[in-house]
Amino acid sequence: MEKFLVEGGGPLKGEVVISGAKNAAVAIIPAVILAEGPCVLENIPNISDVSYLFKILQELGARIRILNKTTVEVDASVIREPVVPYELTKNMRASYYFIGSLLGRYRRAEVAMPGGCNFGGVRPIDQHLKGFAALGANTDIDPGGIINAKAEELLGSHIYFDVVTVGATVNVMLAAVRAKGTTVLENVAKEPHIVDLANFLNSMGADIRGAGTDVIKIHGVEHLHGTTYSIIPDQIEAGTYMVAAAATGGDVLIRNVIPKHLESITAKLAAAGATVTEYDDAVRVTRTGPIRKISLKTLPHPGFPTDMQPQMTAMLTAAEGTSVVTEGVWDNRFKYVDELRRMGAHIQVDGRVAVVEGVRELTAAPVKATDLRAGAALIIAGLMASGVTEIEDIYHVERGYEDVVEKFSSLGAGIRKVSVPDHAAEKAI
Ligand code: EPU
Repeated sequence: MEKFLVEGGGPLKGEVVISGAKNAAVAIIPAVILAEGPCVLENIPNISDVSYLFKILQELGARIRILNKTTVEVDASVIREPVVPYELTKNMRASYYFIGSLLGRYRRAEVAMPGGCNFGGVRPIDQHLKGFAALGANTDIDPGGIINAKAEELLGSHIYFDVVTVGATVNVMLAAVRAKGTTVLENVAKEPHIVDLANFLNSMGADIRGAGTDVIKIHGVEHLHGTTYSIIPDQIEAGTYMVAAAATGGDVLIRNVIPKHLESITAKLAAAGATVTEYDDAVRVTRTGPIRKISLKTLPHPGFPTDMQPQMTAMLTAAEGTSVVTEGVWDNRFKYVDELRRMGAHIQVDGRVAVVEGVRELTAAPVKATDLRAGAALIIAGLMASGVTEIEDIYHVERGYEDVVEKFSSLGAGIRKVSVPDHAAEKAI
């Protein structure tokens, strides 16, 4: 078993360079299936979610050439079968984007239900299925959890999503770019990765307008060609280092970011007592005074991102006074709070609301990363705590943070990855 050992105490200081955005990459990689020629993808983050998706493409018959650490050429213009089996999807939620891209290109997709972060509640896909049906596809989920989608032809349609969903917005866009006629998607997600996917598809010859607003209009086209495209920087990775800098009373320059994407995070950090200075493609975060209590509610973009909620809560455990954190996107995203409590945090959760009463100091404890962002929150808590925090189940963190140990270490953090014998597994044998 691998663990992180995080030694708390010191402020983070220095510079860190942000990688390509996970949630843009995991939409764009399945989208290469739509191209009738090779695509060169730049600024690809080196994380396990991305490796899984490349593995799926390879199994489908795509040819992949790694050009350098962050650039990959993919030729998925010819694939064997539009079928993605469970062994390949079980670790990865975004594998369901292959439904949209395969349906768009081949009018048929067979994709096993995905895995991914489990926050403790259900993660429905009804809006994806509603969108595919409106485009003329028949979908069913067989008892083994395989989603079958088929269409004689895809026809443009008017779709109003009942909830704002990133996943359904992406998946339906992927199919609709090759539908006949015009598709209008209303009440769509507006996250930066939605805009990035639209820009990528447009660079392949698609005709998508309105990405980043509530309404996306797609004029279907018959062919999409290969392209070269650079993925945007990761808003959440940047936000994580911003919060870590503020939480430790540090001074960190976070480079390769789009400051506009960070505005909601910047505003809450400023309210909590940090100073955030924006540059063209960097932000500097410092904090010298106390952490101040704040109220915060997560919402779809441009609201405060749910994927920053655990990290922010970790910081607020040491605020002066009581903060209120409300989760407005997921039914249940406070599973990690039990782990913070083990470190001495005072947090009460009632449904979607966490009341965080600041304590003078966190103390190190053995904890588990219950999901990706929970893992990031525990690293931040570990950096704030006295003693050495041991974090288990770090594979969650490696799904979405490139070189996390190296990047935190370069800021002066005491963080190491260690391999230890798995006693539970030994006993079971
Ligand atoms: N929802 C439905 N029906 C659907 C789809 C979603 O009711 O068919 C609901 C969900 O239950 C949830 C809300 O809509 O309450 C938003 O879900 P969304 O579809 O937007 O989430 P997602 O696409 O599954 C992506 C990110 C998540 C991020 C959410 C919200 C990717 C690969 N994942 O998930 O990122 O939390 O959007 O912004 O893009 C992470 O990176 O740590 C992560 C979990």
